[in-house]
Amino acid sequence: MARKFFVGGNWKCNGTVSEVNKIVNVLNGADVPPTDVVEVVISPPFVFLPQVKAALRSDFAVAAQNAWVKKGGAYTGEISAEMLVNLEIPWVILGHSERRSLLKESNEFVADKVAYALGQGLKVIACIGETLEQREAGETMTVVAEQTKAIAEKVKDWSNVVLAYEPVWAIGTGKVASPAQAQEVHVDLRSWLATNVSSEIAESVRIIYGGSVSGANCVELAGQPDVDGFLVGGASLKPEFVDIIKAAS
Ligand code: G3H
Repeated sequence: MARKFFVGGNWKCNGTVSEVNKIVNVLNGADVPPTDVVEVVISPPFVFLPQVKAALRSDFAVAAQNAWVKKGGAYTGEISAEMLVNLEIPWVILGHSERRSLLKESNEFVADKVAYALGQGLKVIACIGETLEQREAGETMTVVAEQTKAIAEKVKDWSNVVLAYEPVWAIGTGKVASPAQAQEVHVDLRSWLATNVSSEIAESVRIIYGGSVSGANCVELAGQPDVDGFLVGGASLKPEFVDIIKAAS
């Protein structure tokens, strides 16, 4: 079965109530391909999730940017998967490189979060990717495979997982991976999944690319056969996000 194109907009730690309203208005007025062509998921900061969910067009879904690793309780400042489910938030981004590096989230911790969130019924955008140092040392696939292996050891059902390959050196830098670089890692990752998980999952799981995706570079990237969509940061706060969604067609 063909993999449906997926476009996620990760707003990261940005926005005010009025800015959120403006972005949602742009999205709501946009003419984009139908839901059988592209799946769009918008991920505002936690505090804006109910506002965005209430105002956003019904053919776009919302995602949280993180969730706690287990059932809620005495974990000050955390948001549990159960709370997201209770608020009918269908998706969560886990393992973003900003959390891996700044908050020291390990492969195992991310994998535990992915497994717990899936177990609660959430769909997960699981992020992986190498640093510039690792790429230059020729370690890209080793790093990406280790991150994916940690998840594969704890997850059996991949039907609600989207893998986001986000090279750290491309995030927020304007240095987008070339279409060939993105395609190469996505192919290697699919081949890793075929060998270590199953050929069915390798074929069906969506592998999306993130890192300086823009209205200017999205069409060429989207043309790569193993690039199944994007996780967009900075450009998801701008009207050009609509052009990126249209790259699906
Ligand atoms: O989650 C999104 C990625 O970190 C990409 O961010 O598009 O600003 O480079 P960026």
